[in-house]
Amino acid sequence: MASDQIQGWLNNWEGDCTPWHMSDVHEGLARYYKVLVNKPSVQNKIFLPLCGKSVDIKWLADRGNEVVGVEAAEMGLVEFFAEQNIEYSVEAAASVKGKLFRSRDNKIRLYCCDIFDFSASVECGFSGVWDRGSIEALEFEDRKRYIELMRTLISSETGYLAEIVERDLGKGPPYYVTADELEAGFGPGCTVTKLMTVTKLPEYAFHVPDLIGLNVLSITFN
Ligand SMILES: C[S@@+](CC[C@H](N)C(=O)[O-])C[C@H]1O[C@@H](n2cnc3c(N)ncnc32)[C@H](O)[C@@H]1O
Repeated sequence: MASDQIQGWLNNWEGDCTPWHMSDVHEGLARYYKVLVNKPSVQNKIFLPLCGKSVDIKWLADRGNEVVGVEAAEMGLVEFFAEQNIEYSVEAAASVKGKLFRSRDNKIRLYCCDIFDFSASVECGFSGVWDRGSIEALEFEDRKRYIELMRTLISSETGYLAEIVERDLGKGPPYYVTADELEAGFGPGCTVTKLMTVTKLPEYAFHVPDLIGLNVLSITFN
């Protein structure tokens, strides 16, 4: 049974209401892609938490990366493979209490489950994390737990890019996030740097009356 938090998102998918979805690769990802790859001791393997049916998944795979995603909505994953015309298989994945959608070449592995059922024992060794619309999609009360989980999935070598929403304290989702909060949440050794403000806004942004902007951040660890 899905949590209330997830059920709201499933309703959006069922109702064909996905205003966060963008038809082109994210400008921040395209511009700062290098942050996520070419680390000395890990293969290029990129994690997209709460991945939806993002075209960024294919864009990253097309550049030779392994791509791992987590998404609660099965409909989103089915639509992803259909829209991107990628052959895939589906199998039960007891390790996440869900399913694994795998591209035929095994370069794209998308887990259909609650992010909180995912762990480093399922997939690890990420060179990069592309966290777009993820932190802000979760309820405030789940944020600490989410950051703790992400911390277990990364190392000092992982390049971490996030897009966060800057807004007044309006009701979410998307929930307000600050760079300071992330820095404190990820703990000692973490530095958060604002890289850019997004210029190509997704549809939902036009319906957030108190929106200040969408920012792309880099999160580094030493
Ligand atoms: C704002 S969308 C962002 C999707 C994607 N990152 C993109 O850029 O298009 C948030 C996504 O998170 C999924 N989601 C929400 N809560 C989740 C959870 N607890 N576990 C896994 N996925 C979740 C939703 O179904 C939705 O597709």
